[in-house]
Amino acid sequence: MEEFTKKILVSSEQIEQKVKEIGKEITEDYKGKELMLVGILKGAAIFMADLARSIEIPVTMDFMAVSSYGSSTKSSGVVRIIKDLDSNIEGKHILIVEDIIDTGLTLNYITDNLNKRGASSVKICTLLDKPERRKVDVPVDYRGFVIPDEFVIGYGIDYAEKYRNLPDIFSLKEKKCD
Ligand code: XMP
Ligand code: MG
Repeated sequence: MEEFTKKILVSSEQIEQKVKEIGKEITEDYKGKELMLVGILKGAAIFMADLARSIEIPVTMDFMAVSSYGSSTKSSGVVRIIKDLDSNIEGKHILIVEDIIDTGLTLNYITDNLNKRGASSVKICTLLDKPERRKVDVPVDYRGFVIPDEFVIGYGIDYAEKYRNLPDIFSLKEKKCD
């Protein structure tokens, strides 16, 4: 028996269109600059792959993995780096690519951390934004979709490591028992 109901929130067509738009903006904004995309694993992996191909200037790519302590669906604010960047980012223009901003605690930590390493600039690109749950203000430079405070899956985003391969984004609701 399924414990959850899935409702489509953002379709793959909407995502494709939005990724193209954001890619165009990034291409314009970073013309003549050396840009490094930093994808936050694992959630942003699929967005990163599509976004990178919609950017028409040369970019380099690296990845970080972080985890917040605490329960799986609620962020605790304490962030731990599980996989760090492979390269030195001093003097580089960094664009962090994230799947979703919720409380903002994760990206607040990562942005601070990358700035301290001497990057020339650190900006943020997130596919999804749940502004209702924000605890710290993070400057979002490129944003795909603002969504309500619902738990989402698909297009890289998981529930218990499953559903990342769904092409669309769904909200997941617990089924009421009767
Ligand atoms: P914060 O609260 O630090 O959280 O902005 C960002 C991270 O929390 C995860 N997150 C989710 N993961 N469905 C998920 O599978 C969601 O609805 C959701 N909301 C937040 C996500 O890993 C993100 O990087
Ligand atoms: Mg994430």
